[in-house]
Amino acid sequence: MKGHALVTGGAGFIGSHVVDLLLDEGYTVTVIDDLSTGRASNLRDDVEFIRKDVREITGDEVKEADIIIHCAAQVSTFKSVDYPSEDFSRNAEATFKLLEIIRKHNPKALFIYTSSRSVHGNIPPPHIADENWPYTPSTFYNVHKIYGEMLCKIYSELYGLRYVILRPSNVYGPRQPYWVGGWYNFIAYWFELAIKEKPIPIYGTGEQIRDYTYVKDTARAYILAIENSDAERQAFLLPTGIGTTLNELANKIIEITGSKAGKEYHPPRKGDIQRFVGSYKKAYEILGWRPEKTLEEGLKEEYIWIKKEIQSDEK
Ligand SMILES: NC(=O)c1ccc[n+]([C@@H]2O[C@H](COP(=O)([O-])OP(=O)(O)OC[C@H]3O[C@@H](n4cnc5c(N)ncnc54)[C@H](O)[C@@H]3O)[C@@H](O)[C@H]2O)c1
Repeated sequence: MKGHALVTGGAGFIGSHVVDLLLDEGYTVTVIDDLSTGRASNLRDDVEFIRKDVREITGDEVKEADIIIHCAAQVSTFKSVDYPSEDFSRNAEATFKLLEIIRKHNPKALFIYTSSRSVHGNIPPPHIADENWPYTPSTFYNVHKIYGEMLCKIYSELYGLRYVILRPSNVYGPRQPYWVGGWYNFIAYWFELAIKEKPIPIYGTGEQIRDYTYVKDTARAYILAIENSDAERQAFLLPTGIGTTLNELANKIIEITGSKAGKEYHPPRKGDIQRFVGSYKKAYEILGWRPEKTLEEGLKEEYIWIKKEIQSDEK
């Protein structure tokens, strides 16, 4: 047994893949999740599951953990524009409350904070963002992720918190919650629409560029970060270095699903950025991490999963 990990949001998309890898690697795992977007069925039987809101934990939940991985969040940048208070509470306040509990009840635990590449905002061509690219928030979600990062730093300086900040980049793959609709995880939602022969909605020209990462690649970075003391008190971007436009992505989904639905254009959304492409150089040099799946391979895996899910939902 390697140690005990507590994973908030562990019934969610990224969290549940992290949990699987932790179990495979010999860790014992407790998950805290309120199932607001996650699913208990994402969890294996050998996980202790506490259905609870992170903002309501009291201390007992964290006492035994060697590692505390914080994945619970409201994850939609666009939802944060329309509901900033909810975003503040689920992202900023929840992280603060969790860190206060850790400070009081288990200050020696290693804290892994799930931030986002979106803290960097728009990356104009020909640049590729690295971890030193300035914070350039465009929505409340980004501001609250930056706040979480700053909390890690200040808890470390004042109380010696050991932390690692991970900044995933547009993650996709099996278990992406298509059931929460267009707010979240538009890739899974687009698959659902394409499978049901409904048009894929694109806000703006569709020439916005993102850097998409396969979820099992993202999850592997968590294990590497936990097992490498050189990672402590550092931030790591987890992108692929390859930019893809929304139009290209929609075309790939239409091709993979064989859908006849097509695309439907809408006015741009507030807070949307034109381009993000990032470098994984630091993650490779320190963690030995690099993305392994190509976008085509990963999208096919997501399609196989989502097709089965939709068929069983319809039964
Ligand atoms: N998916 C991406 O592309 C992406 C990119 C960058 C960063 N992230 C970050 O990764 C983390 C995981 O996101 P995800 O994509 O797996 O989304 P998700 O919605 O599948 O996972 C979030 C999980 O947290 C739970 N949760 C939310 N608020 C909670 C609360 N207050 N208390 C307890 N549980 C709560 C949800 O039920 C869900 O299981 C988030 O911090 C998100 O901001 C995601």
